[in-house]
Amino acid sequence: METDVNIPSAEECAVQIYNCSGQKFEPETACDLWTKILQHKWVLSEKLGRDAGIKVACLDFIENIENLSEGQREEKIRLLKELGAQMVEPSLWETISETQPPKQIVNKRIILPLTESHLARKHGVVPPKTIIFFGPPGTGKTYFVRGIAGVLRWWYIEISPSTLMEQGEEHLGANLKYLMEKVRSLDEVVVFIDEFEEIAASRENASRIEKSITNEFLKQVPLLKKQDNKILLICATNHIRQLDSALLRPGRFDCIIPVGGLDEQSRRTILEHYLSETNRGETDMDRIIDLTVGFTPADIEYVFQTVRQVAFERELIQKEDYRVTTETLLEMIGNVTPTLTDEIVEQFQQDCERYTRY
Ligand SMILES: Nc1ncnc2c1ncn2[C@@H]1O[C@H](COP(=O)(O)OP(=O)(O)O)[C@@H](O)[C@H]1O
Ligand SMILES: [Mg+2]
Repeated sequence: METDVNIPSAEECAVQIYNCSGQKFEPETACDLWTKILQHKWVLSEKLGRDAGIKVACLDFIENIENLSEGQREEKIRLLKELGAQMVEPSLWETISETQPPKQIVNKRIILPLTESHLARKHGVVPPKTIIFFGPPGTGKTYFVRGIAGVLRWWYIEISPSTLMEQGEEHLGANLKYLMEKVRSLDEVVVFIDEFEEIAASRENASRIEKSITNEFLKQVPLLKKQDNKILLICATNHIRQLDSALLRPGRFDCIIPVGGLDEQSRRTILEHYLSETNRGETDMDRIIDLTVGFTPADIEYVFQTVRQVAFERELIQKEDYRVTTETLLEMIGNVTPTLTDEIVEQFQQDCERYTRY
């Protein structure tokens, strides 16, 4: 909790809140509100594991919490904590190149209908509630989901099949039901289910337990879609072919979106992103971009992990500033096999034709 701050006057509180949120409050209300915002900043920072910043805390408090009674507020915080809810930096979205698929689709189909809700309503555009991201591993599915939560300033809640299975596979269905019930009571949340094929696999040749889990999920989707509160359910899979066909039919998931390879511009953006956090010297970006065809964001990240380790070790030995150059990068790039081989790209293309819908 903040202890070393001077207690601001009521007018100062009103100004602070106005600066953070653009909303005006009477000084008497502002004073009380400011104390609660500072408390909320602490709660948020605890959850994030770092300083949430007063602006994010203020906006989140005013938008999501201010109208709740004391009891409701405590209950909501308890639930968000239980579900491991996080706030994601809105700036994460900006780190994704406009050309990296599916940024533009996500923007037009998911984000804008929610942020420009009046216009969307005028034209009868209904924002999607249930989405599948599919594509090869490491292409950025999780990164996109976090980006969406960040830019919407909604909570990010991740559900992984392995946590649902902690007490054994036979509890997965019940745990899923319990979690989805909790989630339905929240507002402004992005719920992310990773490795979705683990809980929604095809029921053909499936065991009794596997079938019951897929059935449970099929029951949960319409319940979620009926809700008026703002909830986005996003599921990701590397293996869309393994999903039960009933789930993929229109009506259950509003959008099925491919997350695939990077073009030159998106590789440039990601390379620059990682270079900016590396002790760099002269680098010939065009050459590096040419040599990273077929690399996923995960492959690029791995290149930098090894490059940084090597730089560290070389400086330890040589005892002088070691800068990562084109040569260092090329050495490491040569050791990495790109994830997107011709065969994987070919299969992904087929999946795109068969499943994509938005
Ligand atoms: N646009 C991007 N810029 C920087 N790093 C990215 C970007 N997209 C993905 N990454 C990084 O690449 C790695 C793989 O991304 P991830 O979202 O986990 O892939 P997937 O969920 O498809 O397997 C992660 O460590 C992520 O931080
Ligand atoms: Mg992932």
